[in-house]
Amino acid sequence: MAAGAPAAIGETGTGTGCGVGLAWLASGAPSGTRLTSVERDRGRASVARDVFRDHERVEILYGDWRRVEERGPYDLLVLDGGGQAKGDGEADDGGERPAPGESAADPARLLTPGGTVVIDDFTPATTWPPRFNGAPDAARVHWLAHPELRAAELRLAPDLAVIVGTRLPST
Ligand SMILES: C[S@@+](CC[C@H](N)C(=O)[O-])C[C@H]1O[C@@H](n2cnc3c(N)ncnc32)[C@H](O)[C@@H]1O
Repeated sequence: MAAGAPAAIGETGTGTGCGVGLAWLASGAPSGTRLTSVERDRGRASVARDVFRDHERVEILYGDWRRVEERGPYDLLVLDGGGQAKGDGEADDGGERPAPGESAADPARLLTPGGTVVIDDFTPATTWPPRFNGAPDAARVHWLAHPELRAAELRLAPDLAVIVGTRLPST
């Protein structure tokens, strides 16, 4: 997917691997493509910056995922830490979860027409409408029924799925 991104790739959540996913994206991207990743953990952001210090087309922004908006629109946007409509990590912080739409990246602003968004770390859906932990799965529905996208859930393993959505070209 990175190879099909001619100008810009974005990622939220540089991460626990201190940039391993970003390294895969960078290795697959065309030579002229810029990559921007946002991480809210200062230590991880700092280590990742060090990892990519010799890669001038890779930029790590420290802060909340919304900083990814400073560099868009993207041909490929990978939501791996914030912006996923899953509650924006508020559960980790003990805070109140925002509604899915409030915590979700906006494809109309962040994707080029025809651009692709990837939302990681779902369990495979087994029902429709989908449920998670006994409740309606609002995050999954948010993406699969998004009016700006054509989206599908892909099962990667028996216990792991990803949603991939493509922004509809402008009419
Ligand atoms: C699953 S890990 C990402 C893994 C990473 N992409 C990799 O390949 O190693 C999630 C990361 O997102 C970060 N994160 C979570 N919520 C965030 C938010 N609201 N804004 C920015 N980063 C966030 C966490 O600090 C964590 O490092």
